[in-house]
Amino acid sequence: MEVHKISCIGAGFVGGPTMAVFAYKCPDLQISCLDLDPEKISRWNSNELPIYESCLLEIVQNCRGRNLSFSNDVSNEIKNSNIIFICVNTPTKTYGEGAGCAFDLTYLESSVRSIASVLKDCTDKKIIVEKSTVAVRTAEIIEQILTHNAPGLDFSVLSNPEFLAEGTAVNDLLNPSRVLIGGKNEEAIETLANLYARWVPRTKILTTSLWSSELSKLCSNAMLAQRISSINSISAVCERVGADIDEVSTVIGTDERIGNKFLRTSVGFGGSCFTKDVLCLVYICESIGLTDVANYWRQVIIMNEFQRNRFTKCIITSMNNTLKNKHIAMFGFAYKKNTGDTRETAACYVASTLLEEGAIIHVYDPKVTRQMMLNEMNLHKFLDFISADKHLITETNPYEAVKNSSAILVLTEWDCFKDFDYTRMFQDMLKPAYIFDGRNLLNHSALREIGFRVIALGKSDFRDFRFC
Ligand code: UDX
Repeated sequence: MEVHKISCIGAGFVGGPTMAVFAYKCPDLQISCLDLDPEKISRWNSNELPIYESCLLEIVQNCRGRNLSFSNDVSNEIKNSNIIFICVNTPTKTYGEGAGCAFDLTYLESSVRSIASVLKDCTDKKIIVEKSTVAVRTAEIIEQILTHNAPGLDFSVLSNPEFLAEGTAVNDLLNPSRVLIGGKNEEAIETLANLYARWVPRTKILTTSLWSSELSKLCSNAMLAQRISSINSISAVCERVGADIDEVSTVIGTDERIGNKFLRTSVGFGGSCFTKDVLCLVYICESIGLTDVANYWRQVIIMNEFQRNRFTKCIITSMNNTLKNKHIAMFGFAYKKNTGDTRETAACYVASTLLEEGAIIHVYDPKVTRQMMLNEMNLHKFLDFISADKHLITETNPYEAVKNSSAILVLTEWDCFKDFDYTRMFQDMLKPAYIFDGRNLLNHSALREIGFRVIALGKSDFRDFRFC
């Protein structure tokens, strides 16, 4: 099948960068990225893109106005496209059946309905690509909506989940570990595979059935999350038996069968995908009667909550169960380094508990804005009974954040935190001055020499209980 034009519904974290890279690698194709949000589109059309990713602006500037456009005109762009990607949010459902676990398909369904109404009189073949992360058999829902609402339409549905990680999106798209295409129609699969093959080696383009493709995406994220929960569970064991989690993790990771990635202990994983996708897998397992399997995967989430709760409890108990009006510097609020994204960040949960204890938190994060931080806290209703102006302060200078504070918490693994002048910070803090390292990022022995009391996950001086 010949392809001249591609469009994508949803100009978010996945849709925007993916279309930019398609435009960059396929200069002969017209690519349009669509979204109903006018503010988002106008930012994609400016030099202040709605998301920050290394090299993204350069690629967008290179292609925009040539073969890449960002627009609200969904109907017109879809009509003339041969391939239409659906890249809309599938958040966790917050109400009704499956609340807290299942995906909310509202945006996906409405996108498919608008595709159907625009394409109902089209005579040329269309390929609809499901790129949003979905539960298994969602492609069937897409097929049914299109069949019933655009009866004469000649179409194929493909599943082509995205594996990019935030902070490395452009590199992940340019050099993916694999491209996965699931479908029933060989010609449609080949058409999409040929486009990717312009820059991805054929051996990395995997083709499967629709259902395998949908399930593989969910399970890939679930297995990554499970590795983090596994190492975090072992960090708790290390603390009690006098072992060191960094040593144990290094040893485990040198077994080539296991590999060394995603074995870094932390205060808990965050981000828009892991919790949501694991919970969706739990819901699928429960729906098909696999209670033991559902419970197995639910434990990954329980372990994540366990980790951030015991980290917070350790801060409270170490500081004599008395945090009222104590100043605490929080280094990092993003869910991981190199991004300003705060969705499901562990920092939000830690901050909430410390605020309940009466602490005054001074947050320094190189990328997170005050508004983003407040949005995430408000989403969880964590600021309902607290004056954010007085108790949750954002700082643009880390040295200001630590002044008169009793403790520094490291919650995001930003590299720049390693280079701070901790001797200077120590002088400005109340004594004893604590550092609670939730990422095992800093040089603990150097900090101890300065005079800090350093407490870190998976190390023997970590205590989340008191004797009295
Ligand atoms: C993830 C997947 O990696 C990606 O393939 C998928 O498409 C989307 O979800 P992302 O959420 O952007 O990507 O971030 P990732 O780098 O996977 O990190 C997720 C969380 O795990 C972060 O909070 C990170 O700090 C944490 N993490 C990661 C650890 O705590 N320990 C580790 O060893 C690795």
